[in-house]
Amino acid sequence: MELLERPRRLRKNPAIRGMVRETRVSKSALIYPIFVKEGHGIVDPIPSLEGQFHYSPDRVHLELEKVRRAGVPAVLFFGLPAHKDACGSGAWDDQGAVQQALRIAKREFPELYLITDVCMCEYTSHGHCGILNGQQVDNDRTLEVLNRTALSHANAGADMVAPSDMMDGRILSMRRALDREGFSDLPIMSYAVKFASSFYGPFRDAAGSAPAFGDRRGYQMDYHNPREALREAELDVQQGADALMVKPAMSYLDIVYRVRERFDLPLAAYSVSGEYAMIKAAARAGLIDEAAVACEAALAVFRAGANMLITYYAKELAGWMDEGRIG
Ligand code: PBG
Repeated sequence: MELLERPRRLRKNPAIRGMVRETRVSKSALIYPIFVKEGHGIVDPIPSLEGQFHYSPDRVHLELEKVRRAGVPAVLFFGLPAHKDACGSGAWDDQGAVQQALRIAKREFPELYLITDVCMCEYTSHGHCGILNGQQVDNDRTLEVLNRTALSHANAGADMVAPSDMMDGRILSMRRALDREGFSDLPIMSYAVKFASSFYGPFRDAAGSAPAFGDRRGYQMDYHNPREALREAELDVQQGADALMVKPAMSYLDIVYRVRERFDLPLAAYSVSGEYAMIKAAARAGLIDEAAVACEAALAVFRAGANMLITYYAKELAGWMDEGRIG
């Protein structure tokens, strides 16, 4: 058969396939979420997230050591307080789990990059992401408590804050609050495009943050709306965000692609708890090869245009990159 184009020529062996690869990934793009829980001596497996643990601040070094050894450069801290109240005051407690973990991590792991999730839902008794006014989250009152939380993270040593609440105007308001207190060099990574998603289920069990009534559709985005996603991203760019995020990842790769096309800021995608749990469960049922599927799913996020990937598989992915399974 006379054929000028034979794409298979460049698929002949691993060496040529490696050379012509269009998307390359590196450990330097990985961010690993860690759950820190108020208390002492805690290293508890999280039932909804196989392979993930709750750590008290005095034990979190055990996990940070593994992260460092894997070559993952950054972590994202979530906190579980001992007590919750209506306004989520545990979020800005200087002795809170995240604040303590930050101080320990800064001291013992100075080369790790420390990002904090800034939100109220783990700290409020009602489980919503802000202060309630009746059944609704009051946007502008919530901005004040988010700012206090971001400042307490900054004071404890955070390298970057990542607000995930989805209130309007939070980036501008947080930028001003940080600047006023001398943190004008501290970057904000905005969960700019965060959808009201059922893929967060295992996280809410892990963080004890399920809403006590209703759902989050009054503040998180409707998943039918790609143009609104671009508006959300644009607002955060205008308000001074340093990096953007799309969340979840796997079912939202079209959104990652569109945000990448339109904006030049660094872009993260968060491969959320439900994505991780589904791969784990399918692998456990013998239906798929865990490492192969996790690599394929991670690569897709970078192919869509993200620079950074937040994933519960970060340490394993680093290992699979070393082995050349993904690269
Ligand atoms: C806090 C927050 C959530 C997640 C990250 N930050 C839960 C939510 O919005 O309900 C989900 C992360 C995951 O599912 O892995 N608001």
